[in-house]
Amino acid sequence: MNIIRPIQLFEDTVTILDQTRLPREEVWLELVDYRQMIEAIKMLRVRGAPLLGLAAVATVILAAIKYISDDDFVKKMDAVCWEIDASRPTAVNLFKATSQARKILHGSINSREAMEGFRKLYTSLYEYEETACQRIGINGAGLFPQSKKLNLMTICNTGSLATVGIGTALGVIRTLHQDHEVQVFVTETRPLLQGSRLTMWELQKSGIPATLITDNMAGWVMKTNTIDAVLTGADRITANGDSANKIGTLNLAILAKYYNIPFYMVAPVTTIDSSLKSGSEILIEERDPGEVSSIGNQVIAPEGIEVFNPAFDITPASLIEGIITDKGVFKPPYQLDKFVLWG
Ligand code: MRU
Repeated sequence: MNIIRPIQLFEDTVTILDQTRLPREEVWLELVDYRQMIEAIKMLRVRGAPLLGLAAVATVILAAIKYISDDDFVKKMDAVCWEIDASRPTAVNLFKATSQARKILHGSINSREAMEGFRKLYTSLYEYEETACQRIGINGAGLFPQSKKLNLMTICNTGSLATVGIGTALGVIRTLHQDHEVQVFVTETRPLLQGSRLTMWELQKSGIPATLITDNMAGWVMKTNTIDAVLTGADRITANGDSANKIGTLNLAILAKYYNIPFYMVAPVTTIDSSLKSGSEILIEERDPGEVSSIGNQVIAPEGIEVFNPAFDITPASLIEGIITDKGVFKPPYQLDKFVLWG
C-alpha cells in the first residue's frame, strides 16, 4: 500500500509534509522550534486527529530541547502544554497527548529523564496509531460481503496524511480495495478542501478508483448510485457514541439515514473521549471567516459580510450504524465509558 509518513522526528528537528500545499507541491518542512510546530497545527499543515496527537508530542519534544537546561524547565514545559492545548480544541488526541506529556513531566526526576519519557511516548503512540489503522482496516472490511462491488462515500481526509498508517475510514477503503472492486465518492469538503486536495491525491497515488463530488451533490449521488456505505473519520467520540468530525459529516449522516445507507464512524480508540457523556459537551473549533469567503487566494464573497465557519459538526449516535475501531466494531447503544482506552 502507498503510505505517506507525514511526520518524522529526528534528534533535534521534526519534519512534516506541509498539507496546505498539496496537491500542487510536496513540500517538506524542517521545524526546529516548538512554536513552528504550533503554527503548523493551527494552519493545518499537520492535521487529522491521530496525527494531531503525534504532532502534540513532537511539539513537546522540540520545546524540551529548547528548555532542557533551564532551572524552570517544569514551569516552562507546563506552559508549552497549555499553548498546545489552545491550538485546536476539537480533536481529543491532541489533549490526550499533552495529558500524557504532563504526567511524564511531573513524574520525572529531572529534564533529561522527562525528555527520555517524551521520546518514548512519541514512539509508543506512533506504533500504536500505525497498528491501529491496520486493525481498523481489517475490522471494517469484515462488515462487507465478499466479492461484491462496493460504492462508498467519504468526507475530508482520513488517510495516511491524517494518521501515520493506512488511515481510518480510508484504511477500511484501502483494505477493501485489496479484494473488492471499489468505487469511492469523495466530497470536496469545503472550506479547506481536504477531500479534493488530500483524499483524491492519496487515492490516486494508491490506484483506488475515486470520483470527486462537491459537498452539495452527496444526496443526489446517494439516490442515483446505490451507495453501500458512508465511512468517515472522527475527531472526538463521546461515551454515548456522539461523534465530532469535519463539518458536513452530519449532513452525510442525515442523508444516509434517509436513503437507508449504513453510516460508519471510523477511528482508533485514542479518539474516544469517555470523560464526556454526549456530543453537547464537545467544543467545536471556529476558524477564520476568510476560509469561507475565499478559496485559496481567490475571494468569492463581498468584503465586510457576516461569515460563520465551524470546522466540525457532531453526528448524533442515533445516526451511526457502527463505530469501527482497532478494538472492534461497536454497535448501538454505545456505552464507551465502560471501555479501557489508551491515554
Ligand atoms: O480540520 P482537519 O483537517 O484536522 O479535520 C480532520 C477530520 O475531520 C478527520 O476526519 C478526522 O480528524 C479523522 S482523521 C483520521
